[in-house]
Amino acid sequence: MKDPIVEISELSVFFGKYCVLNKVDLFVRSLDFLTIVGPNGGGKTTLIKTILGLVEPESGSVRVFGKKPCSVAYKNIGYVPQIKTIDRSFPGKVYELVATGWSGRWKFALNDVLRQRVKEVLSTCGLEHLEDRQINKLSGGELQRVFLARSFIRKPKLLLLDEPATGIDTIAETDFSFLLEKLQKENQTTIIMVTHDWEYAYYHSTSVLLLNKSVVALGKPQDVFTEENLQKTFGHLGHEHNMDFILRKDD
Ligand SMILES: Nc1ncnc2c1ncn2[C@@H]1O[C@H](COP(=O)(O)OP(=O)(O)OP(=O)(O)O)[C@@H](O)[C@H]1O
Ligand SMILES: [Mg+2]
Repeated sequence: MKDPIVEISELSVFFGKYCVLNKVDLFVRSLDFLTIVGPNGGGKTTLIKTILGLVEPESGSVRVFGKKPCSVAYKNIGYVPQIKTIDRSFPGKVYELVATGWSGRWKFALNDVLRQRVKEVLSTCGLEHLEDRQINKLSGGELQRVFLARSFIRKPKLLLLDEPATGIDTIAETDFSFLLEKLQKENQTTIIMVTHDWEYAYYHSTSVLLLNKSVVALGKPQDVFTEENLQKTFGHLGHEHNMDFILRKDD
């Protein structure tokens, strides 16, 4: 059996009196590609931040690589945050933003080794031409790729992506998807990704978590994407959702 990378049991998180995650259990193994799907405010970002050690649980246990999140070495985890929480007006350049992925700080010494690694990862992500571009001049899709490059600079064993393709029509139609799969294979990375793109989750992930404060369903995409589960997750009738992609598969 493959190694456990993330083990969460009975996790509850509160903001003040408000319960945001209620007794969540989750198990992610090495090289899994887990997608997390759920409604706005359903606790997806909070779960990601708890795995990163940025949010303290009220109760329950969280282990990442067998350790408490705050004890995990920075270089082992890559993180692409939800873009709406990012201040795009910051006056930095692409290569500087990517370099911050090395140490997690804006202030860094750009020595030859780091400069070389920045160039390599920009090239892998097809971003060489944007190296000296101001961040606030990038398109949404370009910015997503820059954050992906940043998250991969240390070849992390675990990558957390919080809606990395918002603003791109569907992930499956873009080369973002190929890029992610290529990086995963090259670096043997386990991926956890929040997405609203059900079709992508259905075809590309090894397991899906439907989350609405509690776990509604967790398992293989074919088992999880049922009308009943979607109704429980989103609170309205499943057939209002566009599930054509599942029907197409069954034709
Ligand atoms: N720091 C905070 N303080 C208080 N409440 C918060 C905080 N962060 C999140 N919340 C609340 O917790 C709930 C879950 O938020 P979260 O960002 O995890 O949802 P989400 O599933 O990622 O939603 P979205 O799809 O909109 O990104 C929301 O009701 C949100 O308002
Ligand atoms: Mg979110």
